[in-house]
Amino acid sequence: MAAKKLLILPGDGIGQEVMVQVRRIIDWMGKKRNIEFEITEGLIGGSAFDATGTPLPQETLDAALAADAVLLGAVGGPKWDDLPFDKKPERGLLGIRKEMGLFANLRPATVFDALVDASTLKSEVVSGLDIMIVRELTGGLYFGQPRGIETLPNGERKGVNTLTYTTSEIQRIGRAAFDLARKRNKKLTSVDKANVLECTVLWREEMIKLQQTEYPDVQLEHMYVDNASMQLVRNPKQFDVMVTENMFGDILSDCAAMLTGSLGMLPSASLGAADANGNRKALYEPVHGSAPDIAGKDIANPLATILSFSMCLRYSFNMVAEADLIETAVKNVLKGGLRTADIMSPGKAKVSTTVMGEAIVRELDKLS
Ligand code: NAI
Ligand code: MG
Repeated sequence: MAAKKLLILPGDGIGQEVMVQVRRIIDWMGKKRNIEFEITEGLIGGSAFDATGTPLPQETLDAALAADAVLLGAVGGPKWDDLPFDKKPERGLLGIRKEMGLFANLRPATVFDALVDASTLKSEVVSGLDIMIVRELTGGLYFGQPRGIETLPNGERKGVNTLTYTTSEIQRIGRAAFDLARKRNKKLTSVDKANVLECTVLWREEMIKLQQTEYPDVQLEHMYVDNASMQLVRNPKQFDVMVTENMFGDILSDCAAMLTGSLGMLPSASLGAADANGNRKALYEPVHGSAPDIAGKDIANPLATILSFSMCLRYSFNMVAEADLIETAVKNVLKGGLRTADIMSPGKAKVSTTVMGEAIVRELDKLS
């Protein structure tokens, strides 16, 4: 098998520190499982701006388009706050997502047994929680035209954003979600606001058509977004895979994230269209940012990025056994009591980024 091409973009702040720990795991996979990655490292964000004058150098973009998968740390920080909008670190991230055509954002919310006490919700509500939110990422309200702020003839100002989706945009995100549901528990909840927004009436119609023609084995239910937000907090375990429009997904995925207790635990994947061989462009990154308040102190939680790498193995490289192995190692290390400072577990010793990374590698050794 040809070596898998992996582009690593540590970015800024804690992005660089957590990526060091992921590198240990990649090395381990090479040595102990004979899995060779062809790794390139590149610049993005503020550190790219400092070195090259742009947050997304052409070289990085070319490498991203040539790679089988991209693993990203985080970008941004106060050092670059005063830059013009198009030079800001965050533009690098938006730019790479757009150029790679990443229209499906997968955000799992998983509650590890050892961390039920870290959630703000009652443990019986969240224990065993394992849901996946699929957010449409390149269309909808955040991109629809017309948009902007205009001045009316009477002098009043008017702000406009537009919710638009074409049938092909709905179908491709629908298929991504149905495919996932098929691999998991064959249940998909499509979230819309079809009682008020025509665009989401179309969304619902297309989801129903997909289910009837291509995914009859997957159970499809529909829920209005306002109800979905209540249900996520009331009884999140009723869900398995949820699929929704860009802005609805932005809000619901942050809400679901907090059911799990810590931002430092949350991975994500963003997928593009499949080519003729079924390969998709893909970018994996933790949900958190560059955390300038704790950067350089070796206290950041590396697990979100380690779990993002595990999603990369699962979804881009079809290495399900290795992905499971990493997830089991994370579970076991947490069960053993290790916590980084961001995890609100009473009475547990707090360990550094490095110690957490080393512990995961030791656990991988034990498991294999
Ligand atoms: P943030 O996610 O960087 O930090 C929020 C809070 O969570 C901070 O107190 C931080 O210390 C803590 N935290 C985050 N990740 C952690 C981890 N792995 N371990 C322990 N604690 C962790 O979000 P914030 O503060 O709003 O933004 C900081 C910078 O990051 C800004 O420049 C922002 O634009 C950028 N950002 C970048 C993102 C990305 O690269 N995908 C996403 C969100 C923000
Ligand atoms: Mg958000």
